[in-house]
Amino acid sequence: MTSEALFREVPWETRNLGIPSFELQVEALRATTSAALSAQMDLLCRQHERFFAQARLNQESTDLIPRVQRAGFVFVEVIVTTAMPVPKAGTPFGPEGWTVDVVDRADAVAMAEIRRIARESFVDDRFHRDPCCTHDLADKRFVLWIGDLEKNEKAVFYAGRLNGQIVGFVIRAAGHVPLMGFERACVGKGLGKAIMSSVLADMQREDLPMLTAEVSLNNLPSLNLFLSLGCRIRNPRATFHYWSDPPAGTSLV
Ligand SMILES: CC(C)(COP(=O)(O)OP(=O)(O)OC[C@H]1O[C@@H](n2cnc3c(N)ncnc32)[C@H](O)[C@@H]1OP(=O)(O)O)[C@@H](O)C(=O)NCCC(=O)NCCS
Repeated sequence: MTSEALFREVPWETRNLGIPSFELQVEALRATTSAALSAQMDLLCRQHERFFAQARLNQESTDLIPRVQRAGFVFVEVIVTTAMPVPKAGTPFGPEGWTVDVVDRADAVAMAEIRRIARESFVDDRFHRDPCCTHDLADKRFVLWIGDLEKNEKAVFYAGRLNGQIVGFVIRAAGHVPLMGFERACVGKGLGKAIMSSVLADMQREDLPMLTAEVSLNNLPSLNLFLSLGCRIRNPRATFHYWSDPPAGTSLV
């Protein structure tokens, strides 16, 4: 068994984290032994000064949890898919002074605002919750993710504004919402539901059948938002992280 078969590089995490980053391949893991896994991790240690690896185990793979934990992987979250049929009718709503518009990516000012909000908004994702990752690195990861979505032709960027000022955003690719966020002063005020009422109205016009998102169970505001819209949850996956050497500034060093 080669390390390539057990570990596949995740190029965007290599870019995000600044160290080689890999995903443990669950089927390959099932076909190997704990000793072989340790040997492959030793090999990665020799090949790379530092590296990061992640493992995602669904309900059919919980028997592999002891094996990844013995290899040094640490539990960080359970992620679920939230999904619901797009409602047939619905009118956008929001408080006084609230507007939602689709951002033209050539609008450098609006895109910079969205990146600023992304940098400060996220607190409950697996990297912010991972004691081996600095918050600075976790914050920057979302800014880089926005950059990746800017290159995705299918992605639509919505800006939620209060009195003309952008305070939050949603990014939608067909029926999927990969990212949304509000500046910290504006979370928990019902604006998540308000911006989604506009997004759902567009999805309805486009005749899209389903709204989906991937949500960490650590992220109660996000989970409750999607549940309150009418989503059900499915496909839980336990996520584990491994850092060969945690970055300076984390609570483990
Ligand atoms: C997730 C997020 C977009 C939700 O938007 P929001 O404006 O805060 O949410 P709302 O105020 O519209 O509330 C939506 C639901 O979540 C619940 N909720 C809000 N804040 C909560 C909190 N801190 N804990 C638990 N539930 C919470 C609300 O009670 C509401 O449910 P209800 O209608 O049953 O009462 C926002 O909190 C945010 O920007 N978080 C940081 C970025 C992020 O994690 N994005 C999601 C991943 S892509």
